Amino acid sequence: MPDNTIYNLLLTAHSWTRWFILLLALAVLFKSYKGWIEQSPFGKGDNALSAAWVGLILFNALTGFVLYEISPLLNNPSVDAMSFGEIMKNKMLRFWKVEHLTLMLLAAVIAQFGRIRIKRQSTDTKRHKVSALYFTIGFILILAGIPWAETGRLFRF
Ligand code: HEM
Repeated sequence: MPDNTIYNLLLTAHSWTRWFILLLALAVLFKSYKGWIEQSPFGKGDNALSAAWVGLILFNALTGFVLYEISPLLNNPSVDAMSFGEIMKNKMLRFWKVEHLTLMLLAAVIAQFGRIRIKRQSTDTKRHKVSALYFTIGFILILAGIPWAETGRLFRF
């Protein structure tokens, strides 16, 4: 398979997974805050939902790292010839080389850490609370890392 077929496949998967991550985030946060406020049991469904959400984030981190290495946007002779300082002065390159990577990586680590912390709580209300707090931070970081203004990247076919 030629390199650009793999690139296009990964980019499309990476792009569409974003929408599933955002949709699931709304469900996860709604259930966490509701469970926290109503002090309801933390059921298998709550656990499965957050596992699916964090799993999708990790999937996108994985495809993202491959894209980082093979994307022609970031890997071409003119970018290769630039120093780190020059890259930081270029808004588009700074976003993809540094900001997107950092925000999404942080989101993935915080969401995964949240999953670990949930399991360590002694009551269901605390599980919902920890879930609400960690996943809110992860969600905000993800929202900040998505290139919303680049309309060509919203729906990729
Ligand atoms: C550490 C994790 C991640 C890395 C290293 C990474 C890396 C990248 C790279 C290199 C691109 C640009 C590809 C190109 O245009 O050639 C990209 C695009 C994108 N990423 Fe990520 N990414 C990560 C996580 C995520 C996550 C978790 C989300 C969403 C929740 C996300 C959403 C997007 C979107 C929406 C685009 C634009 C896709 C398009 O042009 O259709 N990324 N990512």
